[in-house]
Amino acid sequence: MEAVECIKTRKSIRKFRHDPVPKNILTEIINTAQWSPSYKNSQPWEVVIVSGKKKEELSGLLIKLLEEGKAPEPDIPEAISWPPETEERINETMKKRGALLGIDLNSPEIKKKSKAANFRFYGAPHGIFLFHDSSLNEWSIFDAGLFAQSLMLAAHAHGIGTVPQGFLIDYSSEIKQFLGIPDSKRLVLGISIGYPDMENPINTYRTTRAETEKILRWFE
Ligand SMILES: Cc1cc2nc3c(=O)[nH]c(=O)nc-3n(C[C@H](O)[C@H](O)[C@H](O)COP(=O)(O)O)c2cc1C
Repeated sequence: MEAVECIKTRKSIRKFRHDPVPKNILTEIINTAQWSPSYKNSQPWEVVIVSGKKKEELSGLLIKLLEEGKAPEPDIPEAISWPPETEERINETMKKRGALLGIDLNSPEIKKKSKAANFRFYGAPHGIFLFHDSSLNEWSIFDAGLFAQSLMLAAHAHGIGTVPQGFLIDYSSEIKQFLGIPDSKRLVLGISIGYPDMENPINTYRTTRAETEKILRWFE
């Protein structure tokens, strides 16, 4: 797939088919992502892929914590507030997605259900977790973002869907404990990955973008 087309047609997938992605293809996708640039070529990324029984167990653990009302303690804190123009875009996206599904995504009950769907990896056969050493600073989080985008584009080029999920780091400490990852690592992001279920209306939704003139300034 041509690069510009790949970037412009990738979108978050929130319902997956159950059939697993062959291990050699997942490895190829991760290998492609490794060609992302990073600060001083530090390549500060470590990748964990959970599948099968282990993924089901992890889903169960996260849903149990949610049901118990455990407060999220993500390794990267959630934003407390947003500048008005970004908040407007968030609200518009939530409103449009909610309208498509016929639900109010801001109601506490739906929010909880939506979190549980996140914790079920939206039905994907695999969950990917990105880690790095917690002594690393913001530049390495930036690098993780580049890695994540390359990974999602490489997957898309193979006809494989992904969704990046901040919610998947809500219970960072418990996830590390479950996976046997030392607490000295920072859990940066979770990504569900698998073949998209294009029959499901949730995957027909396409987000919009601000007009380029609104975010671009020229000085000549
Ligand atoms: C860092 C990050 C965290 C995200 N967290 C979640 C999440 O927890 N759950 C979810 O369903 N989508 C999540 N998303 C997906 C965004 O909602 C999505 O990228 C955005 O609405 C734009 O839509 P698109 O990916 O289809 O272009 C996240 C995206 C990013 C980049």
